[in-house]
Amino acid sequence: MELKFGDVQETALIPLAIKASETARKNARITDLKAKEIIDTLGVDVSKYDPFLSHEGVVARTLMFREKLKELIKKHPSAVGINLGCGFDDKFIQVDNGKITWFDVDLPDQIKVRRKVYSDRSRCVMIEGSALDGKWTHLIPKSDMYLVVMEGVMEYFSKEQVKTCLNMLCDSFEHGYLLVELHSPFLEKNSKHHDAVKHTNATFGWGTKTGEEYIPLEPRLKLVSEQSYNDEMKKYSIRGKMFAVIGKNLNNRLAVFKW
Ligand SMILES: C[S@@+](CC[C@H](N)C(=O)[O-])C[C@H]1O[C@@H](n2cnc3c(N)ncnc32)[C@H](O)[C@@H]1O
Repeated sequence: MELKFGDVQETALIPLAIKASETARKNARITDLKAKEIIDTLGVDVSKYDPFLSHEGVVARTLMFREKLKELIKKHPSAVGINLGCGFDDKFIQVDNGKITWFDVDLPDQIKVRRKVYSDRSRCVMIEGSALDGKWTHLIPKSDMYLVVMEGVMEYFSKEQVKTCLNMLCDSFEHGYLLVELHSPFLEKNSKHHDAVKHTNATFGWGTKTGEEYIPLEPRLKLVSEQSYNDEMKKYSIRGKMFAVIGKNLNNRLAVFKW
């Protein structure tokens, strides 16, 4: 099957490859049987997308996003969840409490491929839309709480695009939490040295030292928490422990904002 992706959309194959290979391991830390099924159905060769640091980073972020999301869903059991830039990720199945309504949003070409491997479910629906405009947001039902996830997405945006996205979210949804992956200024300058992204045509956008740098772009936001993936990665291997020291400020972070 021939797949046509844009440069950033192609990066969705990275977490997909990693989740499938982790699932196949003994003592897998995450289990995602769907990932292997998607790779087989699409017939793509994803072997180059699974180097050590990216592998550990994706495992860490999957666990960290899941835990944070479950915590928030406990506090807001009827919230509306939005996985913005969902790629092939299925957050709904990881966190469904039997009540939550969920929307998987991505660019039209990505959703077209996603529809080959996922179907809409009664409380989990796919929508074509961009993080850079709010045209799709009228399709989302009214709620007093929105949980927006952006995992592996904002890293590819310029500072102006980050601002556009944050303003769009706060304008479209009255109250919410944003769970977002942030990267460092070092990575911004080093896309070509990233162990997995160097195999794609994508390049990193604006990197930050702290999520506080988002606040001047969208003052309605408050930074609730921010944690480096090192905190999770160092639990599992000597290399992960060493990277947490050498790459103390280099690893990506999960930041949670509230508005
Ligand atoms: C690295 S993948 C991450 C996919 C998924 N969140 C995950 O963690 O597995 C980046 C995703 O961002 C999506 N993306 C890029 N630009 C976007 C935009 N302007 N609006 C919505 N999604 C976008 C891509 O199509 C791709 O699916």
